[in-house]
Amino acid sequence: MPGRPRMPASLRNTFTVKKGGSSSQLLSLNIDLFRNLIFFLFLLRWTRKGLLKLKGRGLLGTFADTYISIRRTLYGLFLRAPGVRSQVEKQVTEAITKLQTKLIPTGPGVVRYLTLPKEGWSDETVLKELETLASMDHTKWEDGYVSGAVYHGGDALIKLQTEAFGKFTVANPIHPDVFPGVRKMEAEIVAMVLAMFNAPSGAAGVTTSGGTESILMACLSARQKAYAERGVTEPEMILPETGHTAFQKAGTYFGIKVHLVSCPAPSYQVHIPSVSRLINSNTILLVGSAPNFPHGIIDDISSLSKLALKRKIPLHVDCCLGSFLVPFLEKAGFETELFDFRLKGVTSISCDTHKYGFAPKGNSTVLYRTALLRSYQYFISPEWLGGVYASPNMAGSRPGALIAGCWASLMNVGEIGYINSCNQIVGTAKKVAEAISENPGLCNDLEVIGKPLVSVVAFTSKTLDIYDIADAMSAKGWHLNSLQSPPAIHVAITLPIVKVWEKLVADLEAVIEGEKEKERVRIVEGKGAKGKSLGDSAALYGVAGSLPNKSVVVELASGFLDTLYKA
Ligand SMILES: *Cc1c(COP(=O)(O)O)cnc(C)c1O
Ligand SMILES: *[C@@H]1O[C@H](CO)[C@@H](O)[C@H](O)[C@H]1NC(C)=O
Ligand SMILES: *[C@@H]1O[C@H](CO)[C@@H](O)[C@H](O)[C@H]1NC(C)=O
Repeated sequence: MPGRPRMPASLRNTFTVKKGGSSSQLLSLNIDLFRNLIFFLFLLRWTRKGLLKLKGRGLLGTFADTYISIRRTLYGLFLRAPGVRSQVEKQVTEAITKLQTKLIPTGPGVVRYLTLPKEGWSDETVLKELETLASMDHTKWEDGYVSGAVYHGGDALIKLQTEAFGKFTVANPIHPDVFPGVRKMEAEIVAMVLAMFNAPSGAAGVTTSGGTESILMACLSARQKAYAERGVTEPEMILPETGHTAFQKAGTYFGIKVHLVSCPAPSYQVHIPSVSRLINSNTILLVGSAPNFPHGIIDDISSLSKLALKRKIPLHVDCCLGSFLVPFLEKAGFETELFDFRLKGVTSISCDTHKYGFAPKGNSTVLYRTALLRSYQYFISPEWLGGVYASPNMAGSRPGALIAGCWASLMNVGEIGYINSCNQIVGTAKKVAEAISENPGLCNDLEVIGKPLVSVVAFTSKTLDIYDIADAMSAKGWHLNSLQSPPAIHVAITLPIVKVWEKLVADLEAVIEGEKEKERVRIVEGKGAKGKSLGDSAALYGVAGSLPNKSVVVELASGFLDTLYKA
C-alpha cells in the first residue's frame, strides 16, 4: 500500500508550512500530499470497479462470481499437490497418446515425408498420392454423417469452384491493378451480401477468411471507435453466453474485457435486463446471435437494438451460421424474427459465405452500417520502408482463387437456389426437432433446447447421460457436436444431411434403446461407476468438464493442437 489515508493531517501541515518552514520541509510535505493523492485515486478506481461490478452483476451475482473464483483457485492448488500432480499428468498423457493413435496413421503402409523430395515428383505421382490422402479412413461427410462442417458438397458446384480456382490460382487482391477481376468480384460479393441484409445506403463491408476473422474485425472496429470518439481505454463488451467463442478470442487478442450474460430457459435467448445492467461508460459493443452455434436460437435482436440505440452503443449481430439461411427464411415460408439492418440499432453483421452460402472454406464477410465504422478496422502504415501499406483486414496477401470460388458459388446458386436450400435445410431441421419431441422412442428421454428457427437442433436428455448418447452415435459413424452447460448435443443440418435425416432419427432411437438397456443392467448388477478414459465425449465433458478448475481440459486441448502438427 502506498500509504494510509492521512489526508486531513497532511492538509493541516501544508497550511502550517506558510509560516516560514525550510524548503526541505516543504518538499517532504509536498511528497506526502502527492502520495496521499495517488492513494486516493487508487482507492477511487477500485471503489468504482467494485461498484460497477455490483451494479452489473448484482449482490448475489457478485457473491457467486467470487465463490466460483475461490473454488477455482483452491482446486488449482489441489491439482498442483505432489501426489495429485503426477496422477493428473499420467492421465493427460494417456489421453493424448490415445488421441494420437486415433489421428496419426500408423502401420507398415504409411510413408512419412519429412523432408523435401530430392527431385520433384511427376504430376502423376503427386496426383496418385493426393488420391490416397483424400480417401484416408474418415467420418463420412459425403453420406451426410457429419453435423455442420460441409455445407453443400454437391458435385456440380465443387467442379465449378475448382474451375474458378484454376482461373485465379496466382491472383492476389493486394494488387488490384494486376488482378482487376478479383477486385471486382470481391466488391460485388460484399454488395450482394449487404443487399441480403437490408443495408441502408452508405453501408459498407469487407471480405475475410472466415467467421472468426469477421468477428475479430467487428470487435476491433468497435474498440477503435470507442477510443477515437469517447477515449475509452479499458474497453468491455457484453455477450450472450451462447455467443461464439470467437468473441472471447477477440477479447484476448485486443484486450477487451468480456462480460457473459446467461440465456435462461425456456427461450434460451440472452437475458436483456442483465445486458442492460452491465452497460457502463467502458462498454464498446453489445452482441446478439442470429442464430447462435450451441442451440441454434436467435437472440431477441429487436430488444438488443432498442437498448443499443438508447445507450448509444454499437450492436453486432453474428449471422455467421445464419449466413444465407436467415435472410431467406421468410421467402421460404418459415417463421422468422427481425435481425438485420432494418433494426436501427444494429451497426455490424458477420455473415459467412462459406457456411450456407456454399462458398469454398476460407470465406466470410463483415458488414457495417457506415463506411466510417468499416474504416476503424483498417490497418494503414504510412511510413513503412517497404512503401505506404494499407490492408483492410488481418491478412496481407490473400488468395484471389478463393474469391473467384466464392463469387462463382453465389452467382451459380442465385436467390432461388438459396431459397430452395433454405426450404430443404430448415424443413429438415424442423422434422428432426419434431421427431425428438414427438416420436415415442425419443420424446420420453430427450428434450429439444428452446425453439430453433433455423438449422441447428440441440437437445438434452432427461433420463440418460447425453454424452453416452453422443459416444454411441459416434460408434454408429455419426459426428454430432457435444455441448456443455447444460450438457447437450446438437446437429447442424446441411444439404448432405437432408438426404439421410430419417436414418439419423432411427439411429438415435436405437442408441437410446441401447443406453436404457445398459442402464437396466447397471442397476441389476449394482455397478456404479462407468469407467471412462479421458478422450471420450462422456469423459471430457462429463468428468473433466464438471471440475471447478478446467486446467486439465486446457492441457488436453493444448495436447490436441500439438497433435495436429505431428507428422
Ligand atoms: C461458425 C460460426 C462462427 C465462426 O466461424 P468460422 O468460420 O468457423 O471462423 C461464428 N459464429 C457462429 C454462430 C458460428 O456458427
Ligand atoms: C487452475 O489450476 C491451474 C493448475 O493448478 C493453475 O495454474 C491455475 O491458476 C488455476 N486457475 C485459477 C483460475 O485459479
Ligand atoms: C475468401 O477468402 C480469402 C482468403 O482468406 C479472402 O482473401 C477473401 O477476401 C475471401 N472472400 C470472400 C468473398 O469471402
